[in-house]
Amino acid sequence: MNKYVWFVLLGFITITVFFISLSFKNKDLAVQVKLPKQFSRTAIEGGKLFNKNCMVCHGKYGSGTEKGPPLIHKYYEPNHHSDRSFFLAVKNGVRPHHWQFGMMPPIKGVTRSDVEKIIPYIREIQRENGIF
Ligand code: HEC
Repeated sequence: MNKYVWFVLLGFITITVFFISLSFKNKDLAVQVKLPKQFSRTAIEGGKLFNKNCMVCHGKYGSGTEKGPPLIHKYYEPNHHSDRSFFLAVKNGVRPHHWQFGMMPPIKGVTRSDVEKIIPYIREIQRENGIF
């Protein structure tokens, strides 16, 4: 083989490794989540709503996916992201600012009272995981 072939091969390998690392980047942000022994009654309902409307992006128990960040994360402790930010996120969507997942769209069909149940679900898991 001549030098030229080696260059092309090396180029291919570099590009492949680059793209593989890109596709793993967001997935690696997902966190391990411990569940509370018992959820409050509101949180149990909130969990069902969460699974239906939020889990595709925020992952099982809010642990994160390649499409959205973990909500069981210091960023989202109540002092930094109050309950109000949950209502606003669902109503208006979120412009990317903490991560590189892109935009969270407004979540249609999820009412204020739904969010009032989703919040305790997330908070109870956050507490169990020492977020606050
Ligand atoms: C299509 C994917 C997607 C869905 C579905 C989704 N989210 Fe998000 N969410 C995101 C992304 C992406 C971000 C991060 C934006 C950033 O800060 O970079 C985010 C951020 C948030 C934040 C932080 C808001 C802030 O002020 O920084 C909250 C709270 C939130 N989501 C709650 C929810 C809840 C509750 C649901 C379900 C009702 C939900 N999300 C459904 C993608 C999603």
